[in-house]
Amino acid sequence: MTIFVTGGAGFIGSNFIFHILKKYPDYRVVCLDKLTYAGNLSTLASVTGNKNFRFVKIDICDRQSVFNLFKEEKPDIVVNFAAESHVDRSIADPEIFLKTNIIGTATLMDACREYGIKRFHQVSTDEVYGDLPLDRPDLFFTENTPIHTSSPYSSSKAAADLLALAYYRTYGLPVTVSRCSNNYGPYHFPEKLIPLMIANALNDKPLPVYGTGENVRDWLYVEDHCKAIDLIIHKGRAGEVYNVGGHNEMRNIDIVKLICKELGKPESLITYVSDRKGHDLRYAIDPTKIHAELGWLPETKFADGIKKTVKWYLENRKWWEDIISGEYKNYYEKMYGKA
Ligand code: NAD
Ligand code: DAU
Repeated sequence: MTIFVTGGAGFIGSNFIFHILKKYPDYRVVCLDKLTYAGNLSTLASVTGNKNFRFVKIDICDRQSVFNLFKEEKPDIVVNFAAESHVDRSIADPEIFLKTNIIGTATLMDACREYGIKRFHQVSTDEVYGDLPLDRPDLFFTENTPIHTSSPYSSSKAAADLLALAYYRTYGLPVTVSRCSNNYGPYHFPEKLIPLMIANALNDKPLPVYGTGENVRDWLYVEDHCKAIDLIIHKGRAGEVYNVGGHNEMRNIDIVKLICKELGKPESLITYVSDRKGHDLRYAIDPTKIHAELGWLPETKFADGIKKTVKWYLENRKWWEDIISGEYKNYYEKMYGKA
């Protein structure tokens, strides 16, 4: 069995590679990654010596190179994590999101059609459903909730998600789609809420909370997402969408306060800043389908997952300090000003 993992030098893709290589010692894993600002080869250091692992630096929009690699490796399964993934960057500059997230996905699926595939899995997001009101805790996203996006990021992900389903219907490509809620855990890029707050708190820098801090996200430990995708690619039905999330809704401000507590830092570091344009209020996944069909349930409770995550950032300072002192510094200063 050969699995292509695109975007495997990023946060969730790398955790997925670790999961697969550990659980299936006879599988071959090929990581396809362009190594954008969000991709980091050092993240994959623990597996680069594994004889079943190969890394290929490639842009998923580069049709010729993608087709050549499919011809050479003949993958059985493709899991597409490669994407521009940060909402704020998509608001500042949408174009690369349209290229990578839409054209890149279509290019991969065209290669699957040309060379044959057992499964193409599209890693989509709960953001394709838009948001839910804060005063209706009874409402959740199901797989039948209409697509209703807010940001250029979520719109590009929705386009890719719908294209994948169209390739199933039109060409019979064996496609599955997962729409997962917010992940957290090791190797999360420090532009995203949880790692940004941990890194800033450790450096005694302001903790920038958008708007009132009352927006709600449904947090899932990254390993639980990886296990869900593992189940879907092996046992999920082609042509189906699976929501992934663990009923763990938290307000942003409560997450930031919890991080202060875990690190023994004062809440006076919290600074309210301008709100994100078009800021989604609340995400909340109904995971009934994946539980009923595939038996998936989240295993890590938030109270344990956040402790593990904070510990990881404390023990792996070099990983994120190299990032925040590099090219990312320019983005940070443009976004939040010089601290
Ligand atoms: P990330 O930004 O950490 O990683 C993205 C990876 O894709 C990087 O390694 C980057 O180098 C690579 N990449 C970008 N453009 C590429 C291109 N043109 N060709 C090849 N590689 C390219 O993202 P993440 O948080 O790990 O998210 C992974 C996937 O999961 C994305 O598709 C995202 O939409 C989806 N998702 C993320 C979350 C979350 O909470 N992080 C939740 C649900 C879904
Ligand atoms: O829901 C799944 C999505 O979750 C994924 O599809 C995206 O790839 C991923 O980035 C994430 O999107 P969010 O916009 O929810 O995540 P982010 O970490 O950027 O922000 C989480 C919340 O925290 C959001 O309400 C905005 C807020 N926030 C974020 C940052 C970076 C702040 O208040 N301050 C900040 O500095």
